[in-house]
Amino acid sequence: MDIPFTRWYSAIPSRIARRSFNYTELTTDSLAQMKAICQEFRPFSNVRAEISTKSPDKVFRGIPFGNIMKVTGAPAFIAFIGNTRDPNINEKIGYLGEGIILEATAMGLSTCWVGGFFHRDVAKSFIGAGEDERVFAVTPIGHTSEKFSFKEKMMKGFSMGKKRKPLPKLVSGLGQADWPDWMQKALEAARIAPSAINSQPWRFYLEPQSITISVNKPHEAFGISNRIDCGIALLHIEVAALECGVKGQWQWLESPNVAKFDSLA
Ligand SMILES: Cc1cc2nc3c(=O)[nH]c(=O)nc-3n(C[C@H](O)[C@H](O)[C@H](O)COP(=O)(O)O)c2cc1C
Repeated sequence: MDIPFTRWYSAIPSRIARRSFNYTELTTDSLAQMKAICQEFRPFSNVRAEISTKSPDKVFRGIPFGNIMKVTGAPAFIAFIGNTRDPNINEKIGYLGEGIILEATAMGLSTCWVGGFFHRDVAKSFIGAGEDERVFAVTPIGHTSEKFSFKEKMMKGFSMGKKRKPLPKLVSGLGQADWPDWMQKALEAARIAPSAINSQPWRFYLEPQSITISVNKPHEAFGISNRIDCGIALLHIEVAALECGVKGQWQWLESPNVAKFDSLA
């Protein structure tokens, strides 16, 4: 499917991690729309998203010092599943999952990337995955109140909430005065992307027509690869570039690099 870039670009600044859902069921239309996007958004081989309405509360778990941080009250969850033999599986999971999450955001639904604090085996058994497949991450999906719960405020404090590093700390190469408009917008969209514990592991090397993404250190925290975070940033870059009328192509790179976006403009 073609990326609905205007819709997803508008959703980027309004997406926020939510963990206290209010048990309201998804409408039949919303569920059907989310099922359709999971079927249709298949940007790469070896990754897919599946939605389930089966006991989501049983899928999530609290962080080690107490169940208070557990995601609760969601009527459904979406699993991001990938084939463990694929060398670029983490990046692909990030890109795929963020597309689904931005679509949910555009529909007015709340979500939260959860890569560590969930029961992988329970999610896998609810979804039905193959032997070589792993549920890399899940998101609850549903409705939340406008106000943040006490638990959510604590979690925001723990993960520094929406605080992000300024661009000069993340980029090297081409100076800002020479950035074309698409590059400026793509970098800003990547800068505000979500990452596990808000670690923002991405770094960007800029050339006149391209952005190369790398990770600041090869790293896993709580069993979550920071290459998933980079996959999320990749999608944000592409969506913002498309919004500026710029198409590009991706090339996967060896660690610590992740991928290079070459604009075709
Ligand atoms: C790959 C990934 C894994 C994450 N895993 C968890 C998790 O296991 N539990 C959790 O509560 N939040 C998790 N988060 C949510 C982040 O803590 C959150 O996105 C980050 O703090 C930035 O906040 P924001 O999403 O509100 O912008 C994860 C985010 C990403 C991108």
